[in-house]
Amino acid sequence: MILGIETSCDETSVALLERDGTVRSNLIASQIDRHRPFGGVVPEIASREHLEHLEPLIRRSLAGAGVALRDVELLAVTNGPGLIGALLVGVAAAQGLSYATGKRLIPVNHLEGHIFSPYLQRAGAAIPRPERFWSLVVSGGHSSIYEIETAGTARVRMLNRTRDDAAGEVFDKVAKVLGLPYPGGPEIERVSQGGRADAYDFSVARFKNDSADFSFSGLKSNAIRLARQLGLAGDVPAADARLLSDFAASFQRAVIDQLIGRLERLWMETATSARPAELGLAGGVAANTALRERITAWAEERRLVLRLPEKVFCTDNAAMIAFAAINKGDGAAEDARSIKAYSRSTL
Ligand code: KG4
Ligand code: ZN
Repeated sequence: MILGIETSCDETSVALLERDGTVRSNLIASQIDRHRPFGGVVPEIASREHLEHLEPLIRRSLAGAGVALRDVELLAVTNGPGLIGALLVGVAAAQGLSYATGKRLIPVNHLEGHIFSPYLQRAGAAIPRPERFWSLVVSGGHSSIYEIETAGTARVRMLNRTRDDAAGEVFDKVAKVLGLPYPGGPEIERVSQGGRADAYDFSVARFKNDSADFSFSGLKSNAIRLARQLGLAGDVPAADARLLSDFAASFQRAVIDQLIGRLERLWMETATSARPAELGLAGGVAANTALRERITAWAEERRLVLRLPEKVFCTDNAAMIAFAAINKGDGAAEDARSIKAYSRSTL
């Protein structure tokens, strides 16, 4: 049994997994309601909330799964990237558990957690990982495509990244301008229902050297400018539901166009023999239904096996952290005293 801890942002989460990836417990204490009045995550509040909720959550997780702490074999904790004060709460708790019980501790990069999340199942053992797969990670802090080699110790290679904002971040920022509550991604998705995705055109950034990197800040600025012109910007959502819904659907489509466009580009640049057999989608934005549909169609056309994470494993959770530790292997355990939290990293 592996116990995982995740406190990198605004979700305190504890999970218990069996070696084969079976999730015995995955508790998530979301702080969204505490941050919503401020329109975004307040780091100081996040740290205090983690401090308050983590220990009770560990106890509840063990009790709920009927597992004694002595039966836990390994510990895993997110040590970056994320909010440093928030990460420190989880890291210190994991270090404490490790000292007290003598159990080994594996530090996990939060992005590695997202990368492996499509292979987790809500019931039963994890789906077998292929020797090589690609992963599109789209969250509030990251947007990148990775190539993962799973033989031996998993190796991750970054194929592209975002030059500026992350996809989830632009959903959140544009939603805020529209007067929608935090987090904005699910709100944009909600108001876009029934809207015309081709109502507005947001020009998509292209780099001079035609790079496959993402860039969302131009799209964000265009969207904010247009929202103002249309009278959609304000503290409360516009009364004209039709206008709002067309705008949101078009904006959502523009983000998805870019995600799929860059994926296609990397695919075309890759020799047939070097192409992966599977593609995973991960991160909070992976919960978006329109994105899931578009990427499903794209993968089908390319005869690529697509792994979509169950919605509970899209946004931050500790099951994916414990699972990443399993994929890294026991050799990834480190001396608990030397594990440090870090706010930024590129995988
Ligand atoms: O992975 P995550 O929980 O946290 C980070 O690691 O960042 O992702 C949170 C992000 C937020 O920006 C949120 O707005 C976005 O995921 N998100 C969505 C949806 N659900 C969450 N974006 C678009 N559509 C959704 N349904
Ligand atoms: Zn995340």
